[in-house]
Amino acid sequence: MQGLPGLLLPLLLLQGLSLAGVASAVEPVSLGLALAGAAASALTGLLSYPRLYCYFAQCCRPEGPARRGPYGHPDPVEAVLQETLDRKVFGQHLATKVVVKAVAGFLNNPNPKKPLTLSLHGWTGTGKNFVSKIVAESIYKEGLNSKYVHQFVSTLHFPHRQNITSYKDQLQGWIRGNVSVCARSVFIFDEMDKMHAGLIDSIKPFLDYYDELDGVSYRKAIFLFLSNSGAEKITEVALDFWRRGKRREDLQLRDVEAAVSVSVFNNKNSGFWHSSLIDRNLIDYFVPFLPLEYRHVKMCVRVELESRGYVADEEIVTRVADEMTYFPKEERIYSDKGCKTVFTKLDFYYDL
Ligand SMILES: *[C@@H]1O[C@H](CO)[C@@H](O)[C@H](O)[C@H]1NC(C)=O
Ligand SMILES: *[C@@H]1O[C@H](CO)[C@@H](O)[C@H](O)[C@H]1NC(C)=O
Repeated sequence: MQGLPGLLLPLLLLQGLSLAGVASAVEPVSLGLALAGAAASALTGLLSYPRLYCYFAQCCRPEGPARRGPYGHPDPVEAVLQETLDRKVFGQHLATKVVVKAVAGFLNNPNPKKPLTLSLHGWTGTGKNFVSKIVAESIYKEGLNSKYVHQFVSTLHFPHRQNITSYKDQLQGWIRGNVSVCARSVFIFDEMDKMHAGLIDSIKPFLDYYDELDGVSYRKAIFLFLSNSGAEKITEVALDFWRRGKRREDLQLRDVEAAVSVSVFNNKNSGFWHSSLIDRNLIDYFVPFLPLEYRHVKMCVRVELESRGYVADEEIVTRVADEMTYFPKEERIYSDKGCKTVFTKLDFYYDL
């Protein structure tokens, strides 16, 4: 009698069943003994629990809906992503909102019809790379260094136009190979605007609504595309909004999204020029990054100072923000380089 619940209880616990349901079926005396036994076997049991094992080793993320903790709590991807973006990314209410909804929704969907594809657009220094890094870290704790996260930089991986045919084969092979190993692979394409026209279309079959191709299903994978193209359009919309005296935070996704996808499709140097990815609606979201204002640059400086262990000195914060150049010429609202050169400017004030 006593041996049975002693064995049963830890097992049930590990499967996330509620203790209350079991306790009512067991007498108080045998429950006490069972709990003592549970402590010992729970320890060995937990170590074989995938979640805990993966805490110490790199694992491909489980394919199913939100991972559940040992006690059945849902995986808080959405909350963590939201909190991290709010704390570290400034002035990007649209991008933050889209990315949180899209990524958390996708990870929680047990049966997506196609991989998640996000195309991030905006000037340099507005946070595209930063956000993709945060997304990677929300899925794999090693982030960009995870063996399941792959980053391609156009000028580095695909520099020569004459080699485009071999790049196409190579890219297809890499994606097929990596998704075969781990369905929850993340692919980040940086500098899309420097990618030779046509190359990106070679991955189209992987992004489409297929159950599987040659025995591999791509529907759990995530693709992020980063580019500067479309930035003029985004600035135009933001500036127009500003000139009409409206609050930046009231800008809606629909005010920007369509304009960006059209401008990218029609731009020879966007990497998406006449791309079938856009034609066929294979990009799930165009994520606009707005140009950053003076106050956002100051926020970047403050956070950077704090992350270096200093108390943010407002005089230095102002000086660094004042050193950046702002456009357009008359109004001087937006920082030319976003927050990009803030970090090197800070080195000048602090001997590091
Ligand atoms: C790229 O092209 C050059 C010459 O056109 C060739 O020597 C080189 O091997 C090619 N590289 C690849 C990866 O195909
Ligand atoms: C995965 O992608 C990387 C490039 O990021 C490539 O070097 C590697 O060979 C790929 N792995 C497989 C199994 O195809």
